[in-house]
Amino acid sequence: MTKIGKFITLEGMDGAGKSTHIPDIVRLIEAKGQTVVCTREPGGTPLAEELREILLHQSMHAETETLLMFAARREHIEQVISPAIARGDCVLSDRFTDATYAYQSGAKAVCVEKIHVLENWVQGELQPDMTLLFDVPVEVSIARLASARVPDKFEREGADFFAKLRNAYLNRARENPTRFRIIDANQALDVVKQDVKVIVEEFLSTI
Ligand code: TYD
Repeated sequence: MTKIGKFITLEGMDGAGKSTHIPDIVRLIEAKGQTVVCTREPGGTPLAEELREILLHQSMHAETETLLMFAARREHIEQVISPAIARGDCVLSDRFTDATYAYQSGAKAVCVEKIHVLENWVQGELQPDMTLLFDVPVEVSIARLASARVPDKFEREGADFFAKLRNAYLNRARENPTRFRIIDANQALDVVKQDVKVIVEEFLSTI
């Protein structure tokens, strides 16, 4: 198979379980002979990881949060994502710009036009080739978070915030139907894993 750099992102509300599936997705891609670069946002470089600490634990204006997300993203693209794609590797990122549309615009009401401007500035033409959206009902997300580790700033938000978030993610998926695959993450783990496998293998068969 010819190596063509691809960019896959994972999205969903906190508690949707997306991170659980990363090892399986990596194995599926590697089985096709591609090298996988696993990364995450906010983060992915030493500086962006420092910004992540600030973003996840300090309270700030939603626009400050948006600007810092894109500052971290600029660094991440420059140092990690673009070089990997240029080498022909497959980049798998746990969250990317759809999270900014969902969290900062959808749930925190930052003007969407401002996010468009930052997106164009920071990313240029760069967009994920495929985005897996792990979707769960709001009450499931909240219940899973309640039984998990110490929550970060975002994970402490209430049901109203999560309802807006889910809505915003589903709208992003509706607006970008060729890029998004919605996964019903409110099923038994084995069933979700099988759904992920089918979707990833189908995507890989096209590259
Ligand atoms: P998350 O991806 O859930 O990591 P973990 O599984 O380790 O908790 O945490 C990142 C948080 O950052 C998540 O709550 C969503 C938030 N976030 C935004 O608000 N905007 C963004 O643009 C990004 C990338 C993340």
